[in-house]
Amino acid sequence: MPSLARLLGLAALAVSASAIIPPGNQGALNQTVNVSEDDTPTTDNESIVNTLGQVNQKSGAATNSTPPSAPIPPTIVTALDGTLTNTTVTDVASNSTAPSSRRRSAKRQRSRYTEVFSGLAPGVHDASIEGTAYLTYTVVPNSTYNIDACLDYCDTVEDCVFVNLYYEFNDYLLDFVFSQESNLVCAAYSDIHNATEKINFGGQSSYPQVGNETVPLTYITQSSGWAADSLTEPEDPDGYTLVFGPTGGANNAPGYMGFAFLSFYDVDGCAALCNGRGTDPVGGGCSYFNI
Ligand SMILES: *[C@@H]1O[C@H](CO)[C@@H](O)[C@H](O)[C@H]1NC(C)=O
Ligand SMILES: *[C@@H]1O[C@H](CO)[C@@H](O)[C@H](O)[C@H]1NC(C)=O
Ligand SMILES: *[C@@H]1O[C@H](CO)[C@@H](O)[C@H](O)[C@H]1NC(C)=O
Ligand SMILES: *[C@@H]1O[C@H](CO)[C@@H](O)[C@H](O)[C@H]1NC(C)=O
Ligand SMILES: *[C@@H]1O[C@H](CO)[C@@H](O)[C@H](O)[C@H]1NC(C)=O
Ligand SMILES: *[C@@H]1O[C@H](CO)[C@@H](O)[C@H](O)[C@H]1NC(C)=O
Ligand SMILES: *[C@@H]1O[C@H](CO)[C@@H](O)[C@H](O)[C@H]1NC(C)=O
Ligand SMILES: *[C@@H]1O[C@H](CO)[C@@H](O)[C@H](O)[C@H]1NC(C)=O
Repeated sequence: MPSLARLLGLAALAVSASAIIPPGNQGALNQTVNVSEDDTPTTDNESIVNTLGQVNQKSGAATNSTPPSAPIPPTIVTALDGTLTNTTVTDVASNSTAPSSRRRSAKRQRSRYTEVFSGLAPGVHDASIEGTAYLTYTVVPNSTYNIDACLDYCDTVEDCVFVNLYYEFNDYLLDFVFSQESNLVCAAYSDIHNATEKINFGGQSSYPQVGNETVPLTYITQSSGWAADSLTEPEDPDGYTLVFGPTGGANNAPGYMGFAFLSFYDVDGCAALCNGRGTDPVGGGCSYFNI
């Protein structure tokens, strides 16, 4: 079973030396690259690796600002050809005809989940996940440690393959503002994470200052992680066909045009970037991508 878990969505775009009509616009298949490998750039993996060191796509539930069950954000292009950015695929590839948001695939059957890591004992301070491909969060009824409610929630969230369930204490919005009146947080991701990424220990002051009383700091307990047993394969974007993979290796190949970092493993978004890429000095449009 191919794993869609990725440290980062990486997209390398390749050139074809002939027509500029992108695949998303029904351009010809198998356009001939009539240049020798010496004449055309190959994948600039050094620039990709350098950019990797500058981009941070790890996050978790922002309970201090966002209410539960907020809509999932669009895919963000966090870097383009080595320059850090913070923009949507639609903005980058505004003249692309391909769909620019993650494909809304048919709803999965009820998934089965396996515990990746368990929480520490009740009362012991623990930490929540800061990880890639964070989607959204909810709170579930906290009269018990409600694992099933959290897994059920993941089933309802598009592309959710992993949840992190934990209690967050002394969070003013959870305790007094949000209508659910629960501090049992269920954070959804489209990448799978493990206990090495338990790095958010809380420690913020969330309650308002009253007189000279000490404001209690937030803290986290019983942080467990659950991964879906089966992952759905992305569908082919319009005009594209899967050539290989997923594998554990990336292309290092001629006809290279550039790269983008994406906030999600978003095959459609990468296709949209390819379609909107335009021509390069070798004279062709993008006809292939490796994500
Ligand atoms: C594209 O190229 C591959 C490999 O050369 C070949 O097997 C395939 O039939 C070609 N497809 C079309 C539509 O020409
Ligand atoms: C490729 O380039 C060579 C030499 O420039 C030329 O003779 C040949 O016709 C070209 N082939 C195509 C398919 O354009
Ligand atoms: C880039 O790829 C080449 C060829 O595979 C390899 O020799 C080199 O170490 C790579 N550079 C980095 C920074 O990964
Ligand atoms: C990206 O832009 C959005 C909207 O302007 C902002 O809320 C967010 O903090 C920015 N993210 C980064 C990493 O700069
Ligand atoms: C459940 O959450 C509410 C709101 O945060 C909190 O007041 C209450 O103490 C929590 N109950 C348990 C058992 O943790
Ligand atoms: C946990 O995730 C980190 C970061 O993705 C990875 O480096 C590490 O190998 C993983 N550990 C296990 C036990 O899977
Ligand atoms: C807090 O304020 C009250 C009244 O303003 C004062 O009596 C008390 O000594 C203060 N406590 C501390 C620890 O400063
Ligand atoms: C999109 O815009 C770029 C830059 O203006 C241009 O080079 C490219 O040809 C356009 N692509 C399409 C598919 O219209």
